[in-house]
Amino acid sequence: MTVEYRAGLEGIPATQSSISFVDGQKGILEYRGIPIQELAMQPGNTFLETAYLLIWNELPNREALAEFEHEIQFHRRLKYRIRDMMKCFPESGHPMDALQACAAALGLFYSKRALDDPSYIREAVVRILAKIPTMVAAFQLMRKGNDPVQPRDDLSYGANFLYMLSEEEPDPIAARIFDISLTLHAEHTINASTFSAMVTASTLTDPYAVIASAVGTLAGPLHGGASEEVINMLEEIGSVENVRPFLEDRLTRKDKIMGFGHRVYKVKDPRAIILQQLAEQLFEKFGQDKYYDIAVELEKAVEEKLGHKGIYPNVDFYSGLVYRKLGIPTDLFTPVFAISRAAGWLAHWKEQLAENRIFRPTQIYTGLHNSPYIPIEKR
Ligand code: CMC
Repeated sequence: MTVEYRAGLEGIPATQSSISFVDGQKGILEYRGIPIQELAMQPGNTFLETAYLLIWNELPNREALAEFEHEIQFHRRLKYRIRDMMKCFPESGHPMDALQACAAALGLFYSKRALDDPSYIREAVVRILAKIPTMVAAFQLMRKGNDPVQPRDDLSYGANFLYMLSEEEPDPIAARIFDISLTLHAEHTINASTFSAMVTASTLTDPYAVIASAVGTLAGPLHGGASEEVINMLEEIGSVENVRPFLEDRLTRKDKIMGFGHRVYKVKDPRAIILQQLAEQLFEKFGQDKYYDIAVELEKAVEEKLGHKGIYPNVDFYSGLVYRKLGIPTDLFTPVFAISRAAGWLAHWKEQLAENRIFRPTQIYTGLHNSPYIPIEKR
């Protein structure tokens, strides 16, 4: 049987899933069948409701949601030994590396594994969603030489994260916009980090190893790391006048423009459309950002040059501007992405376990056969 090889597995189905759907030509994203605009912009929707929907395939009623929120609140704190471990991390290290180490360390403390027990699955889901924001915020404070602050039970999931990061209670509009942005990043079919989570899950290892491998995959600049690169790029451009010369230079050198292009979307990413609106709302309330005009001009220029190839802004293009206005440091953008994408990873972990078969693809061998061994003195 001849099997066609496609680099990056482009267009090759790796699983069957009912969690989310993308139509890259029409710019449609749905979570469990609900269009992303419909879900994220509902005044009553929250990130935790979205996570529940993704993981348990239903919108929770009032009681179920309240119980879930309560469980998350209860598990937000970190064991002091995890905080002690974090004290040994170099403050110059990247927060994604710190998060990956902390996620893996959870497996040391919660080592029981009962993958066929729904209460174990629930406990792991709750623990991971509850502790990731606390770990990200703790590293941020500890690298500045401060003690981490304790989570506040009276604050929502998103508001509590912003509070733990800045030690100040966030403005309700800022907290709401942050929560919507968590929903927008929560799930996106079989992207690289989700695939990584599924491959790890398929070995029936513990959920903390699943999340740690996904965090490691998300960190790269072609995936979650792009939002950080976008801000660095906007800083480098520096002015609206410099947008076109910068773009020409990058394209001549065949460099990618960060925050543009997508394996699946050939139109503007629907999440980028919403994030741009959120950025504008934030600027209206809290003052303009000088990089926004540069970003808008860059979008125009890229569309003129690369629109015919289907290169448009992806989710990472405007998310950095939103996070910046919320006071989140640039190198925390990807950890914040991880906070929300953990919901999608966990949904895929649970789906994978329900019908598991270990991933073991094949390869097309391009090497030699029957080669002689050459002794070291003759090499
Ligand atoms: N800037 C300039 N040209 C681009 C870009 C870009 N950002 N993206 C794709 N192209 C061109 C590419 O040069 C190629 O052109 P040609 O056919 O003439 O050789 C064509 O478009 C196809 O690109 P590709 O690299 O083969 O596409 P891919 O599906 O392998 O890669 C991608 C998708 C997202 C890795 C890529 O678009 C990219 O590197 N973008 C910049 C990084 C980025 O923003 N990543 C975030 C992705 S979305 C969120 C996430 O996954 O976290």
